[in-house]
Amino acid sequence: MDVLPPMVMAAYYILVLSVTASMAVNDSIDLTQSISDGETLVSKGGMVDPINGNSGKLTLDNTVNLILNNNSSVVWSTISQREPQNPVAQLMDSGNLVVWNDGGAKSNDILWQSFDYPTDTYLKGMKTGKDLQNGLEWRLTSWKSVDDPSLGNFSWGLSLSDYPKFAIMNGTKKFSRIGPWNGLHFSGLPNLIPVSVVANQDKIYYSSISNNDSIISGVVINQTSKKYSRYAWVEKSQTWSVFESLPSDVCDNYGLCGAYGVCITPSAPICQCLKGFRPKSPEAWNTSNWAQGCVRNESLRCSDIGEGTGIADTTDGFSKFKGLKLPTPPTLHCGT
Ligand SMILES: *[C@@H]1O[C@H](CO)[C@@H](O)[C@H](O)[C@H]1NC(C)=O
Ligand SMILES: *[C@@H]1O[C@H](CO)[C@@H](O)[C@H](O)[C@H]1NC(C)=O
Ligand SMILES: *[C@@H]1O[C@H](CO)[C@@H](O)[C@H](O)[C@H]1NC(C)=O
Ligand SMILES: *[C@@H]1O[C@H](CO)[C@@H](O)[C@H](O)[C@H]1NC(C)=O
Ligand SMILES: *[C@@H]1O[C@H](CO)[C@@H](O)[C@H](O)[C@H]1NC(C)=O
Ligand SMILES: *[C@@H]1O[C@H](CO)[C@@H](O)[C@H](O)[C@H]1NC(C)=O
Ligand SMILES: *[C@@H]1O[C@H](CO)[C@@H](O)[C@H](O)[C@H]1NC(C)=O
Ligand SMILES: *[C@@H]1O[C@H](CO)[C@@H](O)[C@H](O)[C@H]1NC(C)=O
Ligand SMILES: *[C@@H]1O[C@H](CO)[C@@H](O)[C@H](O)[C@H]1NC(C)=O
Repeated sequence: MDVLPPMVMAAYYILVLSVTASMAVNDSIDLTQSISDGETLVSKGGMVDPINGNSGKLTLDNTVNLILNNNSSVVWSTISQREPQNPVAQLMDSGNLVVWNDGGAKSNDILWQSFDYPTDTYLKGMKTGKDLQNGLEWRLTSWKSVDDPSLGNFSWGLSLSDYPKFAIMNGTKKFSRIGPWNGLHFSGLPNLIPVSVVANQDKIYYSSISNNDSIISGVVINQTSKKYSRYAWVEKSQTWSVFESLPSDVCDNYGLCGAYGVCITPSAPICQCLKGFRPKSPEAWNTSNWAQGCVRNESLRCSDIGEGTGIADTTDGFSKFKGLKLPTPPTLHCGT
């Protein structure tokens, strides 16, 4: 795995052309400076942000912040929600391209940062989730194909449709998802131990890459492999190695077994009906088409529960199932 882009940024996408002679300038530019073709921004620790091409030019201005020109026409720009005062754009060692207000990092006042706009790659310091106040969404979106960086159909982020959960989406359909946060890890993805999880009225996000500087890792959503994969850099072999992927097995595919079906690996067939349920369509079930799910083999006798004598009927009750990742919080309808 040698094509994990270590610093995939918006600007980087726009002019992906051949590398010409490069001349290091600085880790930052201010209103009076610019980066032109052949020049690079180099962070203090050596992270490089090449702006390649023939007529590319990156400048800052006092109205829209960062502007990338190609032969004098604007091909990309950033907009901050506030009016900048003496902005400075700086490439950080993390790979984050930050536009600071008030002359630089010492102001600790960020006008814009590339880490708020993830592409297909997630690096240390980035978040996944949503800022509920300003609508900003930290979501990974796959490339269209291996050599086309425009937005693909696969994405990874927070889904707020019923209750908050993280999922791989194929367009607007859930493709795979991790179970709810249980306070220690996400159910169904025990190795994903987040560095931080925040959920309040303003923001819902997690940040999952270790803060340990001796471990270099990243996450990529890939439409071609149909996977969300976590990579670690192996110093010895100088390669990226995958140490975890989602879907990790066929049961991670969302809704595979339909309502009241349960997916169990290894088993044949992998989809089974819960106790007391039978396949809705036995014919479809027999051909490994499980999407229609299962139905109750006998309807609930709600009137027997807790009424009359006050003692529940012994034929209806609850069964315990362990180790299952639930699709959505279950609802039990009685008497309707
Ligand atoms: C880099 O840019 C900063 C801010 O504009 C400036 O203060 C500093 O002198 C520059 N350093 C070099 C080596 O050009
Ligand atoms: C940049 O400009 C050149 C020539 O003006 C053009 O051929 C090229 O397609 C442009 N690139 C982008 C990314 O707009
Ligand atoms: C840049 O744009 C000018 C004016 O539109 C045009 O004349 C020139 O050929 C362009 N340069 C390149 C390298 O395409
Ligand atoms: C992406 O989604 C569009 C619209 O739903 C669809 O036409 C296209 O085939 C999809 N591409 C892939 C690779 O699934
Ligand atoms: C993604 O969705 C498109 C249509 O929306 C479908 O054609 C395609 O097969 C789906 N891809 C996967 C991997 O499920
Ligand atoms: C950081 O990772 C290295 C290599 O895996 C390990 O030896 C070290 O103990 C870790 N440090 C911390 C603070 O966890
Ligand atoms: C995506 O997956 C394809 C097929 O497995 C692979 O060739 C490609 O290198 C992957 N791209 C990234 C950025 O991981
Ligand atoms: C469904 O109910 C019938 C009749 O009570 C019983 O014979 C059958 O075994 C049940 N099937 C399942 C899948 O529970
Ligand atoms: C399902 O398959 C089993 C064994 O292959 C067969 O006995 C049964 O008749 C099939 N049922 C339906 C409804 O097709």
